[in-house]
Amino acid sequence: EEEAITKICCIGAGYVGATTSAVIAYKNPSVDVVVVDSCEAQIHAWNSGNFPIYEPGLKDILSVVARSGSSGGDVRGEKKARKASTSSIGNLVFSSNIEHAVQNAQLIFVCVDTPTKTRGTGSGFATDLRSVEASVNRIMDLSTTSKIIVEKSTVPCGTAAGLRELLARSNGKGVKHEILSNPEFLAEGSAIRDLLHPDRVIIGCEDTIAGKQATARLASLYKAWVPENCIISLNLWSSELAKLAANALLAQRISSINSLSAICEAVGADIHEVGRVCGLDRRIGPEMLRPSIGFGGSCFEKDIRSLVYLAEGLGLRSVAAYWMSVLDLNEYQKHRQTSRIVDFLHPAACDRVAILGFSFKKDTGDIRGTPALALVRDFADRGFQINIYDPRAKIGSIQEMLDRELPLSSRHKPTAIFSSASEACDQVHAIVIATAWDQFRTNSKETTLDWTSIACHMQEPKVLFDCCNVVKAGYLEGLGMKVVELGRRR
Ligand code: NAD
Ligand code: UGA
Repeated sequence: EEEAITKICCIGAGYVGATTSAVIAYKNPSVDVVVVDSCEAQIHAWNSGNFPIYEPGLKDILSVVARSGSSGGDVRGEKKARKASTSSIGNLVFSSNIEHAVQNAQLIFVCVDTPTKTRGTGSGFATDLRSVEASVNRIMDLSTTSKIIVEKSTVPCGTAAGLRELLARSNGKGVKHEILSNPEFLAEGSAIRDLLHPDRVIIGCEDTIAGKQATARLASLYKAWVPENCIISLNLWSSELAKLAANALLAQRISSINSLSAICEAVGADIHEVGRVCGLDRRIGPEMLRPSIGFGGSCFEKDIRSLVYLAEGLGLRSVAAYWMSVLDLNEYQKHRQTSRIVDFLHPAACDRVAILGFSFKKDTGDIRGTPALALVRDFADRGFQINIYDPRAKIGSIQEMLDRELPLSSRHKPTAIFSSASEACDQVHAIVIATAWDQFRTNSKETTLDWTSIACHMQEPKVLFDCCNVVKAGYLEGLGMKVVELGRRR
């Protein structure tokens, strides 16, 4: 009988590390979880209560599990009193004391970023593994006892095998680390729900007794709330490939529906009807068939690029081209929408546009890989003045992205970010809804926009482009606007 895990460390306090650690701590009150990050500001933000990310439900869980005042990495003395409230467990700490957290842990999740390489071999396609390698090197340097190292970051196939070789070098120190692959399938905006009710948890391991034992110990943490038949053990390669494959398949569905949206706009069919009817076929299913200006976020594109790189490396040209076409269609879709909008506006007279929504999807403040950037770029190229509003994305982060991606020299007219939709829409000729925030809906309790006032303060021709299917066209037309929708002929 292997000793149960009671001490966990999570390296990486970002979207995945923080949310996953919070839920594991919540469901395993007798397990202590320490989340560390090389970025001190990130740890400070978690401890200050001014959380670096927004996720529905996260605050509530942290109010139960997070030990108050755990900043400064003072986990050694455990001096800080646990929260007085009886409902709080206080078994999760955000700390910058990486050394202590790693040394003390039996199991370590590696939840660091794995972006696409921007230089060197495979630039633009291969995965930059520097953060993962730095984490594993740190674990090797610091550890005086054997650890289970859990690869939670999304990595290329073969990474765990490579890390095993690296770890074997630690063996001389009298320790023997085990590596597991346990990719994460949560989506932003629904991270807590996804973690509480996962479709499956997958654990890849080496086919050895030690590998199986490590798998059982990790699985026992998940068994605290995940049904046993949803916890699947598989080999390391399958596990790593399944993660890339799942994201590629999800993205492929979106590119498929987006390709059909172009046909709908040309012939007069309605993409929402087409999507709904197709989704009613149980073999197809309704999810991930929502047409959009393109998929965004930090993962779909990078994971498909990783898959394309793998296929190319294996000499599987047709396979690589097939998955690349999912990305090509996504680019086409983004630019197709701006062309459609601009054609409609006759730019000579109309050059002011408001973009409502800048996060890559609703219910998150995350703007990484947002398709709204393509709209901004295209409008800027065509000489538009652009006003931006998003309910959650931080103005500073949007500004930083624009400064990085859109040099001032490429902007003929000002690009400004506003803290309210009404200000952003004031005196514009057109509004584009780029993110499906509920507050933009015309028929939802969440609506906070005063559409009557917005319509009143626009300039003719008062066009609204709904790229997210959130407005009732008839209602806005009644207010004097012209409504154009993605996937429907106007
Ligand atoms: P993130 O950028 O939000 O967080 C990563 C954190 O790791 C950062 O705070 C960074 O400072 C820290 N870090 C980097 N190197 C470090 C080191 N050597 N030591 C300590 N800390 C270090 O990233 P994320 O969105 O949480 O994604 C993490 C991984 O999970 C990626 O591989 C991603 O593909 C995968 N993933 C992400 C999502 C998602 O929705 N965001 C979902 C599933 C899987
Ligand atoms: C996605 C996957 O859904 C997760 O399972 C996975 O764990 C994660 O990537 C990851 O590996 O990072 P995420 O990117 O957070 O999660 O969000 P999604 O809901 O998948 O949306 C991604 C993009 O696709 C968004 O821009 C969204 O607007 C777009 N989308 C989504 C559509 O255009 N249509 C849809 O029907 C669904």
